[in-house]
Amino acid sequence: MRKEILEEFNEWWYTEEAPRDLLMDYKRHLFSSVVKNVKKRHILSITGLRRTGKTTIMYQVIDNLLKEETKAQNIVYFSFDEMVEGLDDVIDTYREIHAINLRKERIYLFMDEVQKLKDWENQIKKYYDLYPKLKFVISGSESLFVGKLSKETLAGRIHEFYLPTLSFSEFLDLKGIKPKPYAPRIKPMFMEYVNKGGFPEMVNETNMKEVARYIRSSVIDKIVYKDVPTISGIRNVELLHQLLAAMAINPGMDLSYQSLAEQFDSDRRTIKEYVMWLKESFLIRLVGNYRKGTASLRKNKKAYLLDCGIISAFKPQIDDAFLGRMVENAVINTVGTQAFWRNRREVDAVVDGISLEVKYQDKIIRSDLKGLSEFMRKFNTKFGFVISKNREERMKTEHGLVIFVPAWKLLLNPSIIRRKA
Ligand SMILES: Nc1ncnc2c1ncn2[C@@H]1O[C@H](COP(=O)(O)OP(=O)(O)OP(=O)(O)O)[C@@H](O)[C@H]1O
Ligand SMILES: [Mg+2]
Repeated sequence: MRKEILEEFNEWWYTEEAPRDLLMDYKRHLFSSVVKNVKKRHILSITGLRRTGKTTIMYQVIDNLLKEETKAQNIVYFSFDEMVEGLDDVIDTYREIHAINLRKERIYLFMDEVQKLKDWENQIKKYYDLYPKLKFVISGSESLFVGKLSKETLAGRIHEFYLPTLSFSEFLDLKGIKPKPYAPRIKPMFMEYVNKGGFPEMVNETNMKEVARYIRSSVIDKIVYKDVPTISGIRNVELLHQLLAAMAINPGMDLSYQSLAEQFDSDRRTIKEYVMWLKESFLIRLVGNYRKGTASLRKNKKAYLLDCGIISAFKPQIDDAFLGRMVENAVINTVGTQAFWRNRREVDAVVDGISLEVKYQDKIIRSDLKGLSEFMRKFNTKFGFVISKNREERMKTEHGLVIFVPAWKLLLNPSIIRRKA
């Protein structure tokens, strides 16, 4: 590699400062967790959907290190978007520029888009094991570990962080709105958040057409037509796109590989593999059917989108009925659901054994609560949640306490469901 390439990435070697234009004043919640762990020996990884702010956090952490008097030349950033032979090439070039002893000095290596480096796990492992003073912070916009084997290589050596799109409270922070839990001010913002999703660059964009265009071009098309084909070798990119579209216009859809195969004139195995890639690139979330003791059943999955903006990108017209589905999608993401429950009856989400039903509608009637009641009875839990449009109360029922929480309040403060528990 030419020295200039590495020098361009690392202007602080000469200016003692992180690049101003890339820093951003606002710090995502994840920033402080990364800072807390940056001095430890473990490899830190930051993964998440494209355009969520992974690279920005890396620069912010670099800035923080510089302000703490870390020697500028001991901080190295590189993005494997650039063509290189391998990690050796980067480190050798670095040592040509600065004659530094890797064993003697603490050196921070920020390796961005690391999934693009072939066999990256083994390359990093080699340096990690040989040079205890090297600290790696790595990042990628696809899941770094596709399949179990690769994970074993770094077992016990890595601390993984996931950066989602903005939460509702981060969205408000970034807009500069102090979220007093005060409905008239926050509710319109909640609607805006549910429609737009949480891409930092779109927070202040007022034109929804522009938001949809941005998400299509900077997120969806990049992943579907470039990222996934590059690392997976899959060929039918149109199928990948169609599958995502089918999920986006039907958030929470029941995932049947067989019927998707029929619908798209493909086969079950192909569909399953493609769905896996949508998941590994953080576009979708798969939620399984709850069973006590185990996380979920393997069969009967539902698919949600990892950001509501991805839904809007495919569905320009959103009516009231569909808005309820988007709110459900936002709630599922906010509480980090991994399971729903369905027997004869159904609840939308189970979190830490507690059931949650999203009813974003003006009237909620008794029969809307049947799933919750059945869940509380069957699993012997004392309460369950209804995530409502406006209603906020506690209601005693035969099978337990039903707690109504307005969706905007839950999104503002998702720990409500744990505190009330
Ligand atoms: N903390 C922040 N405050 C304000 N804007 C931000 C912040 N983080 C990210 N952004 C905006 O989002 C854009 C994308 O951020 P960044 O490049 O860090 O994302 P990324 O996750 O590395 O994306 P990719 O996966 O495509 O490389 C930035 O150009 C910036 O405009
Ligand atoms: Mg990046």
